[in-house]
Amino acid sequence: MDFELKPLNLSGAASEKCDAIVLLVSDTFKPGKDALSSLAAHAVKEKHLETKAGKLLQAYRSSGIAATRVVLAGAGDGSGKKVHQAVVAAIASLRTSKARRLMICLPADAGDDAVRAAVAATAEASYVYVMTKSKPEGRELQMVTIAVADPKLHQDAFEAAKGAANGIEFAREVANLPPNIATPTRLGQEAKGLAKAYGFQCEVMGPKEIAKIGMGSFLSVAKGSEEPARFIVMQYQGAAASEAPLVLVGKGITFDSGGISIKPSADMDEMKFDMGGAASVLGAFRAIGEIQPALNIVGLIPTCENMPDGRAVKPGDIVTSLSGQTIEILNTDAEGRLILCDALTYAERFKPSAVIDIATLTGACVVALGGVRSGLFATDDKLAQGLQAAGETALDPCWRMPLDEEYGDALKSNFADMGNVGGRAGGAITAAKFLQRYATKFPWAHLDIAGTAWKSGAAKGSTGRPVGLLVQYILDLAAAAPVAPAGAVKKAAKKAAKKAATKAKAR
Ligand code: BES
Ligand code: MN
Ligand code: ZN
Repeated sequence: MDFELKPLNLSGAASEKCDAIVLLVSDTFKPGKDALSSLAAHAVKEKHLETKAGKLLQAYRSSGIAATRVVLAGAGDGSGKKVHQAVVAAIASLRTSKARRLMICLPADAGDDAVRAAVAATAEASYVYVMTKSKPEGRELQMVTIAVADPKLHQDAFEAAKGAANGIEFAREVANLPPNIATPTRLGQEAKGLAKAYGFQCEVMGPKEIAKIGMGSFLSVAKGSEEPARFIVMQYQGAAASEAPLVLVGKGITFDSGGISIKPSADMDEMKFDMGGAASVLGAFRAIGEIQPALNIVGLIPTCENMPDGRAVKPGDIVTSLSGQTIEILNTDAEGRLILCDALTYAERFKPSAVIDIATLTGACVVALGGVRSGLFATDDKLAQGLQAAGETALDPCWRMPLDEEYGDALKSNFADMGNVGGRAGGAITAAKFLQRYATKFPWAHLDIAGTAWKSGAAKGSTGRPVGLLVQYILDLAAAAPVAPAGAVKKAAKKAAKKAATKAKAR
């Protein structure tokens, strides 16, 4: 699916030949003298359409309008959030229409927020998983025109929104794959594919190399599986090599059975989504490849299966992490922290400006925050505030949780430096406290996405979160960067982006 941003007023839109027009009607809608305006004005006046976000009215072959269908969509105050709601509802109402060309007319006073939201919502609502269906159906939408009064004002926001949307889609595609396909090996191949398409560095290590580095904690999780573990290192250089990079670390458990501390059977299939953090790092790198921000960014993905077996790690086993700290594994189902801690220690070698890990880490976080906000933990207030703000802008929000020292007491072990679990109380926090012991050398943030990475029930599937948040954070960081990229770097980046764009189109 392709997006374009076009200057258009409603009289121009009325004569535009496309399958459907979504006309956003905000509280302050001012009709012109064209057919679309009059349709909307009548509908509002006669109370067939409320301007509340989510309210819809469809018209078919209306006179004076070239498009086959018109969806009038209430857009409330026209804010990003309301536009998002309106567009999701409108696209859902067109699901069976098989529309190929769609035009979305934003309110006359739409800002960057509205443009961003329209792109994000369209991509989100029109996504259909087809990878393992015998008949791929439902992916008819090809071209989406976003019509605004003055495109020049929104060009940057529009381009960034497209990059983010492609990153989110990439994360959803990878995370939705079944666990017999989305293996650690496959995640490594996906990373390599991105690196090749967008011209960044990527190294994928196997069990021998991981052992040689000394990641004893990570490897202990992989022991019960026939699938070999992988450690993925992606390096994007958008600024001078001397600039400290931002490091993203994603939990890549491609299936979490719980191991010897096995999980109950009900809904265990959903534990294929336990690589949602890894998928979000891959998705962020896809967006980074497209947007080419003037920053250095490293992506680290420890990935393996967590399975029970004769060789699997057992409760009571003690392992030595890369940091040298020893861990008593009291519950093999608390495996995410065991793979992440070694990746966090590995991150030290990049002398990062900050490290953000992203993980479907605890059921306790789902209990605390549900599916609306991701849990945010941070040792640095500026980093926390940046991530919170980016989440609000991208409509991919998070909520800061505490890291008081006292929460760490639960991790005490009589036999090792720490246990890998606390009690039930404050489970999301004790998990974060565990990770914090490996994040002492840099500003660190941890996003627990256990509640936000996927949806259950009839809408079961990956959400692609928090790619939107991460990409917005990176954009904000690049915009605030005090130093411009070295000329040569910028030129190389432009070249890579152009090459990548051509390749992406050919896909
Ligand atoms: N991947 C799970 C966390 C999870 C559970 C995410 C349910 C989404 C829904 C993680 O590896 C896990 O099993 N955590 C345990 C930790 C416990 C043993 C301390 C949990 O949350 O139950
Ligand atoms: Mn687990
Ligand atoms: Zn897990």
